[in-house]
Amino acid sequence: MRIAIIGAGAMGCLYGGKLSAVEGNEVHLVDVWQEHVDAIERDGLRMEDGGEVLVYDRLRAHSGAASVGPVDLAIVFVKSTLTRAAVSDNREVFGPGTLALTLQNGLGNIEEIAAVAGEGNVLAGTTAHGAHMQGPGRMRHAGSGLTLIGELDGRIGPRIQRVKEALEAAGMETQISGDVLGLVWDKLLVNVGINALTAITGLKNGELLRDPELCGMLEEAVREGAKVAEAKGIVPISRDPVAHAKDVARMTGENRSSMLQDVLAGRRTEIDMINGAIVEEGKRLGIPVPVNELLTERVHQLERERKEGS
Ligand code: PAF
Repeated sequence: MRIAIIGAGAMGCLYGGKLSAVEGNEVHLVDVWQEHVDAIERDGLRMEDGGEVLVYDRLRAHSGAASVGPVDLAIVFVKSTLTRAAVSDNREVFGPGTLALTLQNGLGNIEEIAAVAGEGNVLAGTTAHGAHMQGPGRMRHAGSGLTLIGELDGRIGPRIQRVKEALEAAGMETQISGDVLGLVWDKLLVNVGINALTAITGLKNGELLRDPELCGMLEEAVREGAKVAEAKGIVPISRDPVAHAKDVARMTGENRSSMLQDVLAGRRTEIDMINGAIVEEGKRLGIPVPVNELLTERVHQLERERKEGS
């Protein structure tokens, strides 16, 4: 299978590296970080995983997709703030038979990818893996978890089966879901509860649960988000989204959330696609979401301060 990974951050490298180790796969990482691309081309991708350092040298890295051309599967892993630009700048990977898969956080990615790849070619899902970058060409697989994927219309046919098989052959435990919107919202509500609070406080995911005030805010943010989902007729997969968000915070207790990593690195965060999306939808539907408003405002403020300080 010819595979392109659009966005070779930690998660893109994790999936790209593991897929490249499977006989018969040809994997191309595409990323604008030139030093990272050069390091992978020169030394291979170095992945710290379960105490060992694995080197993946059968994949190629590129700073743009022009040299890659159409692939069978394009997995989009850029931050959701960059989805529109990344798919449009790398449109060469999307041929008529290309499947595009998003496993990104936040709302809006499916629509942005569909605008370039065609709605009928988009698959979506969530990942519970954790990973972070250590430097150009180097990253760490911090924790394993389930990958859930599905077709936008819920059908379970041969092509989604093929993607599942490809991921499983690469050692990524994968299940197919018939309810991709339920999946995306399920993960969204986890991110709504954890990401902004960790970004604001600088705490690791699990530490939020030890502070009664922060834990209360996490619960309320998720509750507000769940009311918005309900008003939209979306049923998150977890029956109790608050308990689920707290379980994930516990299971990924030692993680620095992706939003905290963004703030620490001075990058723009995904706040507008996570808590900000709840605020926007809440306003549209007339549902009060004060905790999400507060969290969105505080993260915007942090982004402004970081920018001014740099
Ligand atoms: O964005 C993240 O960091 C992750 O989605 C999660 C699940 C919150 C774990 O850190």
